[in-house]
Amino acid sequence: MISDVISFSPRAGIGNRAVQLGWVLLPLRTFLAVVYLYGGVSKIADRRFLSGDSPTSMHASVLAVRGTSPIGGLLGPVVDHSFAFGLPLAIGELAVGVGLLLGLWTRLAAVGGMILALSLWLTVSWDASPWFTSADLVYLFAFTPLLIAGAGGVLSLDGWLDRMAGAHPGRAEDRTRRSFVTGGVVAATMALLGVSSLFRRSNSTPSLARPTPSAAAADLVQASAVPVGGAKQVKDPASGDPVWVLQLVAGHFTACDAVCPHQGCTVDFVSARDGFSCPCHGSHFAADGSRLSGPAPRGLATLPVALVDGGVRRT
Ligand code: FES
Repeated sequence: MISDVISFSPRAGIGNRAVQLGWVLLPLRTFLAVVYLYGGVSKIADRRFLSGDSPTSMHASVLAVRGTSPIGGLLGPVVDHSFAFGLPLAIGELAVGVGLLLGLWTRLAAVGGMILALSLWLTVSWDASPWFTSADLVYLFAFTPLLIAGAGGVLSLDGWLDRMAGAHPGRAEDRTRRSFVTGGVVAATMALLGVSSLFRRSNSTPSLARPTPSAAAADLVQASAVPVGGAKQVKDPASGDPVWVLQLVAGHFTACDAVCPHQGCTVDFVSARDGFSCPCHGSHFAADGSRLSGPAPRGLATLPVALVDGGVRRT
């Protein structure tokens, strides 16, 4: 069976081999489509990604890896214009996901996915340890079968368009269909650009970008909820980011941003002795937030807090 799929027996038709390969690659194509659609949508939907003042923004991520990336010298414009680069990145991921899902220009979508994966590997994933655990490196090579074989005409618009063209060679009707598909993709891209612009305007609104006085003055947590010798994760009412509030010594409270400065995962509190651990790529931090090991370029941001009327409050 496998030999039928991969062999180039003269008895097997070229079309049949392509279709067989298309079915073999369908699970991989579907998985990559879902991953890239999710990545693009989550970047556009997350206001913090395109804003310049969040630790999980593209600006902060690129800034953090500029010193260690092998292409760090080229990242200056990306740091200075993170919105202009972040938005095409998100739209590019969406385009790759849509292309793979619909089987439309599948090889082109694979090339786009490889370029995006290579870019991420050379920047935010470069410090993954060991090096072969970088997900972006795996994605880079996962696209190669689709680059070589395409969708094989299986559950794909490429195949449908080819069949239409074969059935009615040269007919204006087929050219109309191609124009329709092309126009739909362009229209969807323009719609995404519009939605993203709305997010951008929302981010520039002072009431969203900066904490209101009442939010800044709100308690992070009641002191009684933080265990002595331990920590409690809460949501910062000012920024919406997760924060760890610690009480390593009875009555003495400290707080750390729970967002890992590598790629923005939420770190876990292990213990007073072992500090924090990041579940994504294994960075470790001491209980005071300082970096101990791993790809994170710096420690966790510490937040000044004080005990006020039984509540732990940012000062
Ligand atoms: S996000 Fe990569 S180590 Fe934390």
